[in-house]
Amino acid sequence: MFDKQIYVDRRLKLRKKVKSGIVLILGNTESPINYQGNTYNFRQDSNFLYFFGLDTPGLAGVIDIEEGTDCLYGDDFDIDDIIWMGPQPKLKDMGEKVGVLSTHPFRELSTTLNRAIRQGRKIHFLPPYRADNTLLLEKLLGINQTIIKTYSSIELIKAIVSLRSVKEPCEVEEIEKACSVGYKMHVTAMKMAKPGALEREIAGELEGIAHSFGYMTSFPTILSQHGETLHNHDHSLTLEEGRLLLVDAGAEGISHYASDFTRTFPVGGHFSQKQKDIYSIVLAANNKTAELAKPGVPYFNVHKAAARVIVEGLSALGIMKGNSDEAVENGAHALFMPHGLGHMMGLDVHDMEDLGEDFVGYDDEISRSEQFGTSSLRMARKLQKGFVLTNEPGIYFIPALIEKWKSEKINQAFINYDVLSSYLTFGGIRLEDDLLITDNGCRILGHRIPITPEEVEKTMNS
Ligand code: GLY
Ligand code: MN
Ligand code: MN
Repeated sequence: MFDKQIYVDRRLKLRKKVKSGIVLILGNTESPINYQGNTYNFRQDSNFLYFFGLDTPGLAGVIDIEEGTDCLYGDDFDIDDIIWMGPQPKLKDMGEKVGVLSTHPFRELSTTLNRAIRQGRKIHFLPPYRADNTLLLEKLLGINQTIIKTYSSIELIKAIVSLRSVKEPCEVEEIEKACSVGYKMHVTAMKMAKPGALEREIAGELEGIAHSFGYMTSFPTILSQHGETLHNHDHSLTLEEGRLLLVDAGAEGISHYASDFTRTFPVGGHFSQKQKDIYSIVLAANNKTAELAKPGVPYFNVHKAAARVIVEGLSALGIMKGNSDEAVENGAHALFMPHGLGHMMGLDVHDMEDLGEDFVGYDDEISRSEQFGTSSLRMARKLQKGFVLTNEPGIYFIPALIEKWKSEKINQAFINYDVLSSYLTFGGIRLEDDLLITDNGCRILGHRIPITPEEVEKTMNS
């Protein structure tokens, strides 16, 4: 938790951005795995963490714009809880830690909201993503759960996105802590990637590293020799000499700020020339992104520039052909990179995605493309100093997608399907760093994980 003034200031800034009414920020509750008492690790709602800082289930925060008050709603633990859980702080004491002096039993939340509803005041709430908060909102506001998201406050969403997009120095510090644990996870994976090792052993080791710092992983680890499957959560294979292993993993700190890195390396520690050729293109696209990312530049343009690097590299290998700009305009690169270049990162690994991707990554100037591949870009708008986002280009050889495009003659002016046929078992390569936008450029967060083929081979063989 940060100093209380951080939360006081954030709520003050929010109050200046929302014209009138009541802002309701629901915290999360415990979530059962297979019976009530056996719960998943508790994960607080990120907006609640941002404005109220408390990492405890069963709380709600209310910011009254006209009255200028902040209130917390929650129930103190009773003796039965304390027998099982140990001593617990009182709500009043928790409130003081984040500068909220007005604290109330949870049942009074409905009294407060009912009064506001009777007075015809606007209640701003965020789109719920968990069933229990959906049902709670239905009960509190009398709006049917099936349509409740459509009543969430766009004014509040936009206000929060504008605040959370620009990271404060204390937030960058927390992200860098998560990056340094992420570094350890990835270097460990490189060293463990020997023929005969099991994917699940390495995945387990990475999770263990995060846990040993009191952290968790920021999303389910992707660790697979089938790197061409973008979000592959299967870890059942045995490592085979020479195959590429793609590891996309990050840490989430005690404060819940995230890191998100991907490295791809050859089992056994030596790239073949064919692997190095493709790898070098992805690395060039990653480096091009870091070179171009700066305030005022739309990330959409950077995505396109990275796509152009990929097209030019694949053309030099004879896999693609024709004019590179035209190939990118026609979306031909998306056969190899069907995802976006990156996303915002912060308290969520895909920051603020619960508020709606388009509110986070798009604005009045830049709207989402409808073209296959480019339409998957999560972050497209102009960069600003203080944004933290990922730089994650990739090249994948996805047999089913290649087969589909080939048989439907998609973009055949730009793709040499004959040459491509020798890459069907290649797999996929993604290289992902986390960037902080600075005054006139960007900075790679954390100590950069080995990334050149030479650095990777040296780390794997050390
Ligand atoms: N963790 C998936 C991604 O890189 O966005
Ligand atoms: Mn990732
Ligand atoms: Mn990512």
